[in-house]
Amino acid sequence: MTILSNLYVILILRILHIGSGIVWVGSATLYLLLIIPAARSAQSAGQKFLQTLGPKFGAMMGIVTTVTVLSGALLYVRFFAGGISFIWTTGAGFAFTVGAVAALGSYVMGAGFFGKMQARIEKLGAEMESAQSAPNPAQVQEMNRLQSSLMKAYQFDLVLLAVAMLAMAVARYL
Ligand code: HEM
Repeated sequence: MTILSNLYVILILRILHIGSGIVWVGSATLYLLLIIPAARSAQSAGQKFLQTLGPKFGAMMGIVTTVTVLSGALLYVRFFAGGISFIWTTGAGFAFTVGAVAALGSYVMGAGFFGKMQARIEKLGAEMESAQSAPNPAQVQEMNRLQSSLMKAYQFDLVLLAVAMLAMAVARYL
């Protein structure tokens, strides 16, 4: 595709890709390492804060992750000009591929898992709040299970993003 060899197109794609990649990894790190622990220690006020932030954060992440993946995919397609063997015959091709697979894993988790889990937690939280009596043990147990699964998924996601970021950062020099 000759348009992908145009210098201005490459520059625009790189600006979009690196800019949105920075926001993606930076926001995910801030959310997991600072915002969630701070909200948890603020108890019910923290829960309300997360409920307000959640949809806006999800929408923003949807945009930046999609821009990173689409611009990255177009930049990646350029490497195919010399055949697919660049993946195993060059260090750069291998590292960009490892980084891309890790980032795509994170993208799939974000699109398919985080939103659904958060919605389930919010629904259960609303049921527990609206109940006249204290929440029953089964509901508390289910809430703990959902929150712990979501935290494990966030931690795994951060590992994938660290792999993507490290691989992308060094690939060109391998
Ligand atoms: C967390 C997500 C990502 C981050 C933080 C990220 C970051 C970066 C950075 C900083 C560079 C510049 C490296 C350099 O020029 O030496 C880069 C380049 C590149 N990225 Fe990513 N990236 C991410 C996801 C992806 C994905 C999902 C793909 C493919 C589907 C991809 C494909 C590429 C390619 C092909 C290049 C080389 C561009 C060129 O040669 O001009 N990246 N990435």
